[in-house]
Amino acid sequence: MSAHGGSDQARPYEPAHGRAVRRLTAGAVRRRKGTPFPIVTAYDAPFAGFAEAAGIDILLVGDSLANVVLGYDETTPITVEVMIHHAQAVVRGTSRAHIVVDMPFGSYHVSDEDAVRNAIRLVKEGGACSVKLEGGGMEADRIAAIAATGIPVMGHIGVMPQTAGLGPGYKKRANRERLLEQAKKVEAAGAYAIVLEVVDSEIAEEITASIAIPTVGIGAGPHCDAQVLVLHDALGIYSQSPPFAKRFAELGSAATNALAEYAREVRERGFPAR
Ligand code: KIV
Repeated sequence: MSAHGGSDQARPYEPAHGRAVRRLTAGAVRRRKGTPFPIVTAYDAPFAGFAEAAGIDILLVGDSLANVVLGYDETTPITVEVMIHHAQAVVRGTSRAHIVVDMPFGSYHVSDEDAVRNAIRLVKEGGACSVKLEGGGMEADRIAAIAATGIPVMGHIGVMPQTAGLGPGYKKRANRERLLEQAKKVEAAGAYAIVLEVVDSEIAEEITASIAIPTVGIGAGPHCDAQVLVLHDALGIYSQSPPFAKRFAELGSAATNALAEYAREVRERGFPAR
Protein backbone atom coordinates (compact mmCIF):
# COMPACT_ATOMS: atom_id res chain seq x y z
CA MET A 1 0.00 0.00 0.00
CA SER A 2 1.14 3.54 -0.64
CA ALA A 3 1.27 6.27 1.98
CA HIS A 4 -2.15 7.34 0.68
CA GLY A 5 -3.72 3.91 0.99
CA GLY A 6 -3.67 3.03 -2.73
CA SER A 7 -2.00 -0.03 -4.20
CA ASP A 8 1.76 0.10 -4.85
CA GLN A 9 1.11 -0.42 -8.54
CA ALA A 10 -0.75 2.87 -8.70
CA ARG A 11 2.09 4.80 -7.06
CA PRO A 12 4.37 6.04 -9.82
CA TYR A 13 6.64 8.38 -7.87
CA GLU A 14 8.87 7.73 -4.88
CA PRO A 15 10.86 10.57 -3.33
CA ALA A 16 14.61 10.15 -3.76
CA HIS A 17 15.30 10.57 0.00
CA GLY A 18 17.58 7.84 1.28
CA ARG A 19 18.45 6.49 -2.17
CA ALA A 20 22.12 6.44 -3.14
CA VAL A 21 22.83 9.40 -5.38
CA ARG A 22 25.10 8.71 -8.33
CA ARG A 23 24.60 11.06 -11.23
CA LEU A 24 25.58 10.79 -14.87
CA THR A 25 28.45 13.17 -15.57
CA ALA A 26 28.80 15.73 -18.37
CA GLY A 27 31.78 13.70 -19.63
CA ALA A 28 29.54 10.66 -20.01
CA VAL A 29 26.98 12.77 -21.86
CA ARG A 30 29.70 14.01 -24.21
CA ARG A 31 30.75 10.43 -24.96
CA ARG A 32 27.24 9.70 -26.25
CA LYS A 33 28.07 11.57 -29.45
CA GLY A 34 26.71 9.47 -32.32
CA THR A 35 24.16 7.54 -30.23
CA PRO A 36 20.67 9.06 -30.12
CA PHE A 37 19.51 10.00 -26.62
CA PRO A 38 16.52 11.81 -25.09
CA ILE A 39 16.47 14.86 -22.83
CA VAL A 40 13.35 16.40 -21.30
CA THR A 41 12.81 19.51 -19.24
CA ALA A 42 11.85 19.16 -15.58
CA TYR A 43 10.80 21.75 -13.05
CA ASP A 44 9.67 19.84 -9.96
CA ALA A 45 10.36 16.69 -7.96
CA PRO A 46 7.55 14.34 -9.05
CA PHE A 47 7.85 14.90 -12.79
CA ALA A 48 11.64 14.71 -12.60
CA GLY A 49 11.12 11.38 -10.83
CA PHE A 50 8.75 10.18 -13.59
CA ALA A 51 11.31 11.08 -16.25
CA GLU A 52 14.12 9.31 -14.44
CA ALA A 53 11.92 6.24 -13.89
CA ALA A 54 11.21 6.32 -17.65
CA GLY A 55 14.93 6.02 -18.33
CA ILE A 56 15.59 9.64 -19.27
CA ASP A 57 18.85 10.37 -17.50
CA ILE A 58 19.47 13.98 -18.58
CA LEU A 59 17.00 16.55 -17.29
CA LEU A 60 17.05 20.22 -18.21
CA VAL A 61 15.71 22.70 -15.69
CA GLY A 62 14.94 25.07 -18.52
CA ASP A 63 13.97 28.68 -18.10
CA SER A 64 10.92 27.64 -20.15
CA LEU A 65 9.79 27.28 -16.53
CA ALA A 66 8.68 30.90 -16.97
CA ASN A 67 6.23 29.97 -19.73
CA VAL A 68 5.00 26.50 -18.89
CA VAL A 69 4.89 26.63 -15.09
CA LEU A 70 4.82 30.25 -13.97
CA GLY A 71 2.52 31.74 -16.61
CA TYR A 72 4.82 34.37 -18.12
CA ASP A 73 4.82 35.13 -21.87
CA GLU A 74 8.62 35.37 -21.99
CA THR A 75 11.55 33.76 -20.16
CA THR A 76 13.19 37.13 -19.33
CA PRO A 77 11.60 37.66 -15.87
CA ILE A 78 13.13 34.48 -14.42
CA THR A 79 15.86 35.05 -11.82
CA VAL A 80 18.77 32.94 -10.60
CA GLU A 81 16.89 32.48 -7.29
CA VAL A 82 13.85 31.02 -9.07
CA MET A 83 16.07 28.67 -11.12
CA ILE A 84 17.78 27.53 -7.91
CA HIS A 85 14.42 26.89 -6.23
CA HIS A 86 13.23 24.62 -9.07
CA ALA A 87 16.62 22.96 -9.59
CA GLN A 88 16.62 21.94 -5.93
CA ALA A 89 13.23 20.26 -6.40
CA VAL A 90 14.41 18.37 -9.50
CA VAL A 91 17.55 17.27 -7.64
CA ARG A 92 15.44 16.06 -4.68
CA GLY A 93 13.22 14.05 -7.01
CA THR A 94 16.05 12.15 -8.71
CA SER A 95 19.19 10.23 -7.84
CA ARG A 96 20.87 9.26 -11.12
CA ALA A 97 19.99 11.89 -13.71
CA HIS A 98 22.38 14.56 -14.92
CA ILE A 99 20.71 17.87 -14.06
CA VAL A 100 21.45 20.77 -16.45
CA VAL A 101 20.20 24.14 -15.24
CA ASP A 102 19.57 27.12 -17.51
CA MET A 103 21.34 30.36 -16.70
CA PRO A 104 18.51 32.91 -16.91
CA PHE A 105 18.50 36.13 -18.91
CA GLY A 106 20.84 38.69 -17.34
CA SER A 107 22.80 36.17 -15.29
CA TYR A 108 25.71 35.89 -17.77
CA HIS A 109 25.47 39.03 -19.90
CA VAL A 110 27.28 41.59 -17.75
CA SER A 111 30.76 40.11 -17.31
CA ASP A 112 32.72 36.85 -17.08
CA GLU A 113 32.92 37.34 -13.30
CA ASP A 114 29.17 37.72 -12.94
CA ALA A 115 28.56 34.69 -15.17
CA VAL A 116 30.97 32.56 -13.14
CA ARG A 117 29.42 33.75 -9.85
CA ASN A 118 25.92 32.85 -11.03
CA ALA A 119 27.00 29.48 -12.46
CA ILE A 120 28.62 28.65 -9.12
CA ARG A 121 25.35 29.54 -7.34
CA LEU A 122 23.39 27.18 -9.62
CA VAL A 123 25.82 24.37 -8.71
CA LYS A 124 26.31 25.13 -5.00
CA GLU A 125 22.76 26.15 -4.10
CA GLY A 126 20.73 24.52 -6.87
CA GLY A 127 22.61 21.23 -7.15
CA ALA A 128 23.18 21.60 -10.91
CA CYS A 129 25.56 19.11 -12.54
CA SER A 130 26.08 21.55 -15.42
CA VAL A 131 24.66 24.83 -16.69
CA LYS A 132 23.32 25.94 -20.07
CA LEU A 133 23.47 29.35 -21.66
CA GLU A 134 22.25 30.83 -24.95
CA GLY A 135 24.45 32.39 -27.63
CA GLY A 136 27.38 31.75 -29.93
CA GLY A 137 28.96 35.20 -30.07
CA MET A 138 30.48 36.93 -27.04
CA GLU A 139 28.80 34.20 -24.97
CA ALA A 140 31.63 31.87 -26.01
CA ASP A 141 33.87 33.86 -23.63
CA ARG A 142 31.38 33.24 -20.83
CA ILE A 143 31.34 29.53 -21.64
CA ALA A 144 35.14 29.45 -21.46
CA ALA A 145 35.19 31.39 -18.16
CA ILE A 146 32.62 29.10 -16.54
CA ALA A 147 34.21 25.91 -17.93
CA ALA A 148 37.57 27.07 -16.54
CA THR A 149 36.10 26.78 -13.03
CA GLY A 150 35.30 23.12 -13.72
CA ILE A 151 31.56 23.63 -14.24
CA PRO A 152 30.46 21.87 -17.44
CA VAL A 153 28.51 24.08 -19.86
CA MET A 154 25.93 23.20 -22.50
CA GLY A 155 25.64 25.75 -25.32
CA HIS A 156 22.45 26.81 -27.14
CA ILE A 157 22.16 28.40 -30.60
CA GLY A 158 19.46 28.82 -33.25
CA VAL A 159 16.28 30.27 -31.78
CA MET A 160 17.24 31.68 -28.39
CA PRO A 161 14.04 32.33 -26.45
CA GLN A 162 15.67 34.76 -23.99
CA THR A 163 16.18 37.33 -26.75
CA ALA A 164 13.84 36.08 -29.52
CA GLY A 165 11.00 38.26 -28.23
CA LEU A 166 13.27 41.33 -28.25
CA GLY A 167 13.70 41.25 -32.03
CA PRO A 168 14.90 38.16 -33.90
CA GLY A 169 11.65 36.21 -33.39
CA TYR A 170 11.06 32.45 -33.44
CA LYS A 171 11.30 31.61 -37.16
CA LYS A 172 13.52 28.75 -38.31
CA ARG A 173 17.21 29.68 -38.40
CA ALA A 174 18.89 28.83 -41.73
CA ASN A 175 22.00 31.01 -41.94
CA ARG A 176 24.42 28.14 -42.57
CA GLU A 177 27.73 30.02 -42.23
CA ARG A 178 26.68 31.81 -39.09
CA LEU A 179 25.27 28.72 -37.37
CA LEU A 180 28.33 26.61 -38.23
CA GLU A 181 30.63 29.35 -36.98
CA GLN A 182 28.67 29.70 -33.74
CA ALA A 183 28.60 25.93 -33.12
CA LYS A 184 32.37 25.68 -33.62
CA LYS A 185 32.93 28.67 -31.35
CA VAL A 186 30.80 27.14 -28.59
CA GLU A 187 32.66 23.83 -28.94
CA ALA A 188 36.07 25.57 -28.89
CA ALA A 189 35.03 27.48 -25.76
CA GLY A 190 34.72 24.14 -23.95
CA ALA A 191 31.02 23.25 -24.04
CA TYR A 192 30.26 19.53 -23.62
CA ALA A 193 27.08 19.62 -25.78
CA ILE A 194 25.04 22.17 -27.71
CA VAL A 195 21.30 22.73 -28.20
CA LEU A 196 20.17 23.58 -31.74
CA GLU A 197 16.72 25.14 -31.43
CA VAL A 198 14.53 25.48 -34.55
CA VAL A 199 17.46 25.17 -36.96
CA ASP A 200 17.09 24.00 -40.56
CA SER A 201 17.38 20.21 -40.54
CA GLU A 202 20.14 19.98 -43.19
CA ILE A 203 22.22 22.60 -41.42
CA ALA A 204 21.70 20.77 -38.11
CA GLU A 205 22.95 17.60 -39.83
CA GLU A 206 26.03 19.43 -41.10
CA ILE A 207 26.75 20.93 -37.67
CA THR A 208 26.35 17.49 -36.08
CA ALA A 209 28.93 16.06 -38.47
CA SER A 210 31.31 19.01 -38.00
CA ILE A 211 31.73 19.10 -34.24
CA ALA A 212 32.86 16.48 -31.73
CA ILE A 213 30.31 17.33 -29.02
CA PRO A 214 26.71 16.07 -29.12
CA THR A 215 24.09 18.29 -30.74
CA VAL A 216 20.73 18.38 -28.96
CA GLY A 217 17.90 19.21 -31.34
CA ILE A 218 14.56 20.83 -30.67
CA GLY A 219 12.72 21.51 -33.90
CA ALA A 220 16.01 20.88 -35.74
CA GLY A 221 15.17 17.60 -37.49
CA PRO A 222 16.20 13.98 -36.97
CA HIS A 223 19.96 14.19 -37.51
CA CYS A 224 21.02 15.68 -34.17
CA ASP A 225 22.73 13.37 -31.67
CA ALA A 226 20.05 13.98 -29.03
CA GLN A 227 16.55 15.43 -28.85
CA VAL A 228 15.09 17.63 -26.12
CA LEU A 229 11.41 18.32 -25.55
CA VAL A 230 9.70 20.65 -23.12
CA LEU A 231 7.90 18.36 -20.65
CA HIS A 232 4.55 20.11 -21.02
CA ASP A 233 4.70 19.66 -24.81
CA ALA A 234 5.64 15.97 -24.58
CA LEU A 235 2.86 15.28 -22.08
CA GLY A 236 0.17 17.36 -23.82
CA ILE A 237 -0.51 19.56 -20.80
CA TYR A 238 -1.63 22.61 -22.80
CA SER A 239 -4.05 22.62 -25.74
CA GLN A 240 -1.35 24.00 -28.07
CA SER A 241 2.22 22.80 -28.62
CA PRO A 242 4.82 23.89 -31.18
CA PRO A 243 4.51 22.14 -34.57
CA PHE A 244 7.80 20.23 -34.11
CA ALA A 245 6.79 18.77 -30.73
CA LYS A 246 5.07 15.40 -30.46
CA ARG A 247 2.41 14.95 -27.78
CA PHE A 248 3.07 11.54 -26.21
CA ALA A 249 0.08 11.90 -23.83
CA GLU A 250 -2.87 14.22 -23.17
CA LEU A 251 -2.34 14.97 -19.49
CA GLY A 252 -4.03 18.38 -19.67
CA SER A 253 -7.40 16.92 -20.60
CA ALA A 254 -6.85 13.92 -18.27
CA ALA A 255 -6.34 16.37 -15.36
CA THR A 256 -9.40 18.45 -16.26
CA ASN A 257 -11.53 15.32 -16.57
CA ALA A 258 -10.30 13.93 -13.23
CA LEU A 259 -10.99 17.21 -11.44
CA ALA A 260 -14.42 17.53 -13.09
CA GLU A 261 -15.19 14.03 -11.78
CA TYR A 262 -14.04 15.01 -8.27
CA ALA A 263 -16.17 18.20 -8.39
CA ARG A 264 -19.20 16.24 -9.60
CA GLU A 265 -18.83 13.63 -6.84
CA VAL A 266 -18.57 16.31 -4.13
CA ARG A 267 -21.65 18.13 -5.46
CA GLU A 268 -23.62 14.87 -5.64
CA ARG A 269 -22.36 13.70 -2.21
CA GLY A 270 -20.59 10.75 -3.83
CA PHE A 271 -17.26 11.72 -2.26
CA PRO A 272 -16.30 11.09 0.48
CA ALA A 273 -18.09 7.75 0.71
CA ARG A 274 -20.62 7.48 3.56
O1 KIV B 1 14.28 26.42 -21.47
C1 KIV B 1 14.17 25.41 -22.18
O2 KIV B 1 13.25 24.60 -22.01
C2 KIV B 1 15.13 25.19 -23.24
C3 KIV B 1 14.85 24.10 -24.22
C4 KIV B 1 13.80 24.55 -25.16
C5 KIV B 1 16.07 23.65 -24.92
O3 KIV B 1 16.10 25.89 -23.32
